[in-house]
Amino acid sequence: MRSVDVSGDVWAALLALREGREEDGGAADDPAWSIYEPLARRRGKPFVLAQVGQSLDGRVATVDGDAAPISGPDGFAHLHRLRALADAVVVGAGCVVADDPRLTVREVAGPSPVRVVIDPSARIPPDARCLSPESRTILVRGEGCAAPASHETICLPRAGDGRLCPVALLDALGDRGLHHILVEGGAATIRHFLEAGVVDRLHVCVAPIIIGSGAPGLSLAPISRLSEALRAQTRVFDLGSDTLFDCAFDRD
Ligand SMILES: NC(=O)c1ccc[n+]([C@@H]2O[C@H](COP(=O)([O-])OP(=O)(O)OC[C@H]3O[C@@H](n4cnc5c(N)ncnc54)[C@H](OP(=O)(O)O)[C@@H]3O)[C@@H](O)[C@H]2O)c1
Repeated sequence: MRSVDVSGDVWAALLALREGREEDGGAADDPAWSIYEPLARRRGKPFVLAQVGQSLDGRVATVDGDAAPISGPDGFAHLHRLRALADAVVVGAGCVVADDPRLTVREVAGPSPVRVVIDPSARIPPDARCLSPESRTILVRGEGCAAPASHETICLPRAGDGRLCPVALLDALGDRGLHHILVEGGAATIRHFLEAGVVDRLHVCVAPIIIGSGAPGLSLAPISRLSEALRAQTRVFDLGSDTLFDCAFDRD
């Protein structure tokens, strides 16, 4: 397993790539470059990376909802690097209600992404930290739900099962120039993107703790045969406090 050391030069080159400039500093055989380059490089088409920070037994919170911090300091910095390289970070209403995240970049140098909150029924509190003016926020609502005057809103039709279609959301974000998307959770939101087949990369960041019960990081519809399981080309990296499983899905 290769260790990841994100040098100042490599990080500067990745931020330049995010801005559409190519600078010396990134080498293909450098673990840090190979992890972050796919999200940083603008290719003129959508790129979706979903990330989950979980315990060894696949939990993201205790039964009482205590979720912070599961990731160690290096896993947390990794998440902030992903935010800095993405155009937009997407979370579900459950995550906002449970954790009240700010969704900004604070652990590394770099810009904060546009915050996109899927809140079909307008249940997140008006004082949620992700609604603060420090960064742009887009609310995603179900069609027919009142759009607040306070924030930019995308209204999407609900499918028969009540879901808002992730493909329609990606199209709407693309119309706003937001093509590189970090799906930060929680489990239901990641599930909808995975089941829609629109995830290019899944980062599972595992902290060496066992919670034993509580909310799962990933949860998909039941299957009966392992041959139906999702498979990805997976590389494993030692981040320091956490272990990263970098899973690539073939979408071409
Ligand atoms: N460790 C991590 O990486 C991480 C990251 C984020 C969150 N979390 C944890 O995850 C838990 C919350 O996860 P969760 O699965 O309960 O909630 P969630 O995924 O954050 O939010 C789910 C809700 O968002 C809305 N939603 C999301 N996608 C939708 C879609 N395509 N169509 C329609 N509605 C959609 C729905 O809201 P309505 O119910 O209002 O319809 C849905 O119930 C918390 O315990 C939190 O601590 C962990």
